[in-house]
Amino acid sequence: MISERLVNFINDQINFEYYSANIYLAMQAYFASQGLNGFTNFFKVQIEEENFHATKLFNYLNQVGGRVIIKGFPDPENNYASPLEAFEAALAHEQKVTQRFNNLMEIAREDKDYASLGFLQWFIDEQVEEEDTFNNAIQTLKRIGDNPAALYLYDQELSSRTFTPPAAV
Ligand code: FEO
Repeated sequence: MISERLVNFINDQINFEYYSANIYLAMQAYFASQGLNGFTNFFKVQIEEENFHATKLFNYLNQVGGRVIIKGFPDPENNYASPLEAFEAALAHEQKVTQRFNNLMEIAREDKDYASLGFLQWFIDEQVEEEDTFNNAIQTLKRIGDNPAALYLYDQELSSRTFTPPAAV
């Protein structure tokens, strides 16, 4: 049986995933204001990813008898000096998410809650991908520097990003 402490921490993480979606929604709005449609699409897809993460946690908590409590979150940052600054902020946010899942794993381990350990492993793997996605974009943006033609091409490339949900939520 899942502990009350783990229920509370998973509930916090559900809310943090919706908060992540809200942060990326503000980034989507920033890129839309810059006329960078590919970057705008990138963040639209990222929001779908975050909503998927929240839903996966939401369903698990219900499945194990926990009660989901929805909370509010602080205003996200809406202004960035450059695309690079936005992606660096996104990576820093994802690193926080990774720490939070590591912490959830620690609690499940202390509780000897093997079902939750198995469930949470998906998110540990997912965070490797999440950090890698933003790291790659940062490297690309650093190479692009102040070259508008290269930025235009990268924007075109990001317009093809799509969200494909895994088979089971
Ligand atoms: Fe839900 Fe981007 O981690």
